Amino acid sequence: MQNPSESPVRGSADGSVVGIVLGIETSCDETAVAVYSARQGLLAHQIYSQVALHARYGGVVPELASRDHIRKLLPLIDAVLTDAGIKSSDLTAVAYTAGPGLIGALLVGATMAVGLSQAWGIPAVPVHHLEAHLMATRLESDPPEFPFVALLVSGGHTMLIDVRAFGSYEILGQTLDDAAGEAFDKTAKLLGLPYPGGPELAALAEQGDAAAYDLPRPMLGRPGFDFSFSGLKTAVMLKVRKAEAAGPLSDTVRANLASSFQEAVVDTLVGKSLRAVRDTGRQRLVVAGGVGANRLLRARLRAGMAQTGGSVYYPRIEFCTDNGAMIAYTGWLRLRAGGAQSDATVHARARWSLQDI
Ligand code: KG4
Ligand code: ZN
Repeated sequence: MQNPSESPVRGSADGSVVGIVLGIETSCDETAVAVYSARQGLLAHQIYSQVALHARYGGVVPELASRDHIRKLLPLIDAVLTDAGIKSSDLTAVAYTAGPGLIGALLVGATMAVGLSQAWGIPAVPVHHLEAHLMATRLESDPPEFPFVALLVSGGHTMLIDVRAFGSYEILGQTLDDAAGEAFDKTAKLLGLPYPGGPELAALAEQGDAAAYDLPRPMLGRPGFDFSFSGLKTAVMLKVRKAEAAGPLSDTVRANLASSFQEAVVDTLVGKSLRAVRDTGRQRLVVAGGVGANRLLRARLRAGMAQTGGSVYYPRIEFCTDNGAMIAYTGWLRLRAGGAQSDATVHARARWSLQDI
């Protein structure tokens, strides 16, 4: 194991950089911690979801999120170090999500990380949350090589990015209004599904007929790579109102609406992603973020990329949504690239573009 009193990033016998990084994620409603070892890969990770805490409000309540991170973070760090079979003195650095995200929630993780790094005498490493999502597939056994196109689809973001190398990103397009996950969640609410609605809506859609309702494919016919999902959500709302005029929605109508909605979102995401791959000439498409767990999206992208002779890559389902593993791993990549802090500044930014890293 490492001796932290030595240089934090050391070369191994074969010249590669070694180290063990603790990763802390608190940007939204998941408290997540992991340990990544340069030699052995992911040693341990745990995710504590606050879903139950926010469910009764139908969305994340920022102040409650911050308070719960405070309660859960330190015990989670202890548990993950125990799972990994290491002590704090074995660590090389502490990586933390510095943004973008809810500012109060970010500050909990950032303050804890910087405090621990000071106490343990090792550097802290601020990590960009979206960059970490982009790197999550590289934790899998068949990681994508650079360059690749990434489709980042979560509750807060919908973006197509040309990833040329670690740290070199060009945003090709993004949503002009709602994120895809947000549209899933809002439409699920319209259909009376419990929070968080995305996965519930996807499950209901599997029982419905995707051709039952004619819904728009927003911006699919337009050039460029931007998205817009708020009009689609409104189109579903109008269909719901019309159907409700005849009485409460039947299970069949709800399933058909869910299925038609999912089809429209997936068509749009797949159409733009494949066009981005074609226009950039890339061979690989990486999918990241919570909506990347959607089964229809995965199947369609896989089929579409197979037709172009390229490949699509996903993180395992639990690493599509927020997790500490992607922060620990990206923290290690940043550390290796010289991104460790030299002081005790607590970095936290609610807004932070990928292109400004
Ligand atoms: O990446 P993530 O955990 O959080 C953000 O950083 O936003 O993504 C959560 C989003 C939610 O909107 C959730 O409804 C959506 O991902 N989601 C899904 C599915 N699983 C999660 N949307 C569609 N189909 C799914 N299977
Ligand atoms: Zn996220």
